[in-house]
Amino acid sequence: MLPNDVTIVLVNACEKGPARGRCPAPGWPEQAALLLQACFPGEDGYPTLERAGAEIQDLLADAACLIVAFDGVGVAGIVGGLESYHGHVWELHPLAVRADRRGQGIGSHLVSLLEEEAARARVGTIILGTDDTDERTSIGGTSIFPGVLQRLSAIRDTGGHLFAFYRRLGYEVTGVVPDANGPGKHDILMSKSLNAVICQAGIDQRSQRGEPRTC
Ligand SMILES: CC(C)(COP(=O)(O)OP(=O)(O)OC[C@H]1O[C@@H](n2cnc3c(N)ncnc32)[C@H](O)[C@@H]1OP(=O)(O)O)[C@@H](O)C(=O)NCCC(=O)NCCS
Repeated sequence: MLPNDVTIVLVNACEKGPARGRCPAPGWPEQAALLLQACFPGEDGYPTLERAGAEIQDLLADAACLIVAFDGVGVAGIVGGLESYHGHVWELHPLAVRADRRGQGIGSHLVSLLEEEAARARVGTIILGTDDTDERTSIGGTSIFPGVLQRLSAIRDTGGHLFAFYRRLGYEVTGVVPDANGPGKHDILMSKSLNAVICQAGIDQRSQRGEPRTC
């Protein structure tokens, strides 16, 4: 459940029209950049406000979908979907919720809205990468060769890694980029099929194409 004081805006629809929901006040991109910088301050993220601002502009220009949560303070959360594989797949990137609004369901809600938008766009799968740079999973801090897939299939959360958050939302571990962020710092790849979301949202892509129904 989304807190009562939080509103959601599909901002790239606002920018490109037709907008669903009201458009946010000017100045929100700067707030969104501050949020990205606060959430991902490392060198592999957005160590400067300038880099975070450039990412927001890139997302506005290129993302298939960009959804922002607003509260009385300003931007409370953001999620984006990047088109991939000729539109069959969206990559979830980025996902961030302001520190003082975490644990209130905003992150999960943003993810599920992104899934609904993807389903409407006839996307089959959402993918994402979630780094383990500080040994929060059973594969962190060590070389995973040989036997990468064996280790991956037995992956465990050992210190509050986000893959547990995504797993609860229906994402499965479907791959890994070994040493993506340096030795022992792997990027864990996760995916979710949107078949169930498509059915729940009443969007049966196959029947729309005249093929046998999936739901
Ligand atoms: C990850 C993030 C977006 C979650 O947003 P949120 O609004 O706090 O999420 P929700 O309130 O919907 O949380 C849902 C559940 O996930 C849990 N959760 C949140 N972060 C978690 C983590 N790092 N590891 C495991 N579980 C986590 C919450 O405790 C909650 O569980 P509960 O329902 O049993 O209480 C937020 O913590 C954040 O912005 N983190 C920093 C940026 C980041 O890491 N983004 C993801 C990059 S891949």
